Amino acid sequence: MPPLKIALIGLGTVGSGVARLLIEQSERISRRAGRSIEIRRAVVRDLDKPRGVELPAGVLTTDIQSVIDDPEIDVAVQLIGGVDDARTVMHALLDAGKDIVTANKALLCEHGFELFGRARELGRTISFEAAVAGGVPIINAVSQSLAANQILSIEAILNGTSNFILTEMLTKRTAYDVVLREAQELGYAEADPAMDVDGTDAAQKLVILTELAFGTNVPLTAFPVQGIDTLDLVDLLTADELGYRVKLLAVVKLLDGQLEMHVQPTLVRADWPLAKVDGAFNMIAVEGDAVGRTWFSGAGAGQFPTASAVVADIIDTAVGRAALTFPQLDLFREQAALPVLPTEKISRRYYLRFTVEDRPHVFAEIADILGRNGVSLASIIQHETPEPDEAPAATDEATVSVVVMTHRTTLGKLQAVDAELDRLTTLHGPRVRMPVAD
Ligand code: NAP
Ligand code: HSE
Repeated sequence: MPPLKIALIGLGTVGSGVARLLIEQSERISRRAGRSIEIRRAVVRDLDKPRGVELPAGVLTTDIQSVIDDPEIDVAVQLIGGVDDARTVMHALLDAGKDIVTANKALLCEHGFELFGRARELGRTISFEAAVAGGVPIINAVSQSLAANQILSIEAILNGTSNFILTEMLTKRTAYDVVLREAQELGYAEADPAMDVDGTDAAQKLVILTELAFGTNVPLTAFPVQGIDTLDLVDLLTADELGYRVKLLAVVKLLDGQLEMHVQPTLVRADWPLAKVDGAFNMIAVEGDAVGRTWFSGAGAGQFPTASAVVADIIDTAVGRAALTFPQLDLFREQAALPVLPTEKISRRYYLRFTVEDRPHVFAEIADILGRNGVSLASIIQHETPEPDEAPAATDEATVSVVVMTHRTTLGKLQAVDAELDRLTTLHGPRVRMPVAD
């Protein structure tokens, strides 16, 4: 077989990992692909940036047109982030007859419908194992290995950066900003890390998994998405004290013909498998009607774990597996949408944290608002503070954290509570609300 000629579009964290794997493990990869794989072009913006990989002269270029115009390039490995440029490039590559491998979940989440439609029209393929959970083969598992099942639920840790931050904050007591910088240096975070910590990245991955599992396209705006960026160490410590770990959980469940979906920092019982996933690891619990519950776990971000998934897709394309499976995928097609449970009807138990002035009657006001809105309290935690005359200074303005665990209630009721709490002058700082997984 002649070599498969490919172009890497983007040679950042993932792209340079893919290049190194293809070059350093060329014998193993050629054997599995049934032919050698030649990197003919690598497109970047800045030719002078160090890449950590040696490419033959003439391969590195800033000219995407040199890929589009080269009929010998069969596969374009699209590893630039963001949406707008990536979308334009993807259309041009498909129109030029290239099969695509990509890790860009933001692009697939936002424009998957049009891109998959175009690829099907042109008889091309799009492979995207690396777009969800990095090195964990969850796309393959849900779309092929579990194909006999009606999926009933997916509960997952899908953002490595957030999980890394939560783990480091709790175990090393390191400040949020310091750990976020470390996640960027380790290559886990997106170019704009706001997407990692505000829940968007996990929500984009959940949308793709929901497409695969339920054949329905749910926009990001149709379900609650909350990140870890409003949490404080005190939340992680209080959860720990109560026997829970805080995890950014992405959940979709099929309940009475409706989908319940959310991405939220969630209290998970410390003895559950999801609670034990640390660092940049991801875990996906998938429940099917025939198989029951299955668990998939591994590195969800980082250079080589992600490159592992990208290179597997290149091999699949080389041997022709992608051409067989892509047309059959129930993904981004016109089909009857399943309704999504409205946000205000989602019913869970909740952890609520308030920062209040440390003086009489303050908690009574909060309890009154919760009670009048039908929110029942399961427990209240306030740590003892010094007697006013023993406190260092400014006792009148001292504040204290109060944590309330509720019985099962709806988000609608808690939103009504929030509106009333906004009017209290005795509350200070951010209020934190996290559901409890059950
Ligand atoms: P990155 O380090 O920021 O690299 C992006 C690369 O794309 C850079 O080489 C950049 O060129 C190039 N690029 C950007 N815009 C371009 C344009 N308009 N034309 C040509 N080249 C352009 O990003 P990354 O971490 O490798 O992530 C790449 C994709 O994989 C993203 O969609 C990300 O969401 C996804 N992903 C990442 C991970 C991870 O762990 N990092 C895991 C799974 C999926 P310069 O280097 O010259 O600036
Ligand atoms: N920024 C992403 C994460 C990369 O931290 O999970 C993997 O998609």
